[in-house]
Amino acid sequence: MTDLAKAAADIMERAYAPYSNYLVGAAIRTAAGNIYVGCNVENAAYPLGNCAESSAICAMISAGEREITEIFIMTRGEKPGTPCGGCRQRLAEFADSQAQVHCGLSTGETITYRLGELLPHSFDLEQNKT
Ligand code: THU
Repeated sequence: MTDLAKAAADIMERAYAPYSNYLVGAAIRTAAGNIYVGCNVENAAYPLGNCAESSAICAMISAGEREITEIFIMTRGEKPGTPCGGCRQRLAEFADSQAQVHCGLSTGETITYRLGELLPHSFDLEQNKT
């Protein structure tokens, strides 16, 4: 298991997911070579829950970094979970289309995508200019 996969697996154990029982751990590697982690945090008011990727991005930004080169998302189940649509957009804010998105299980099974595959034609700041 890579250091990034291990970081994602470790943080997955801290997920707070009593409603879905779907634990997710995310580990981001930045351009500076540092790793930031996050897990999903659910809430009794369901829509207030946070995804693991979002938590990891918050940790990265809080530490003063902004450039994601790869992310490992660890889940349980029959096949690796892929990031939700909202988290694809959140990742696109800080990663380019070539950034690697590794989706894995603790069994070692991993599927790697490029962010551009998961979110083609993404909305970005250029389009946001009026
Ligand atoms: N979840 C994530 O943490 N990341 C995703 O990309 C997909 C979904 C979480 C949210 C919720 O706590 C649980 O998985 C079930 O949807």
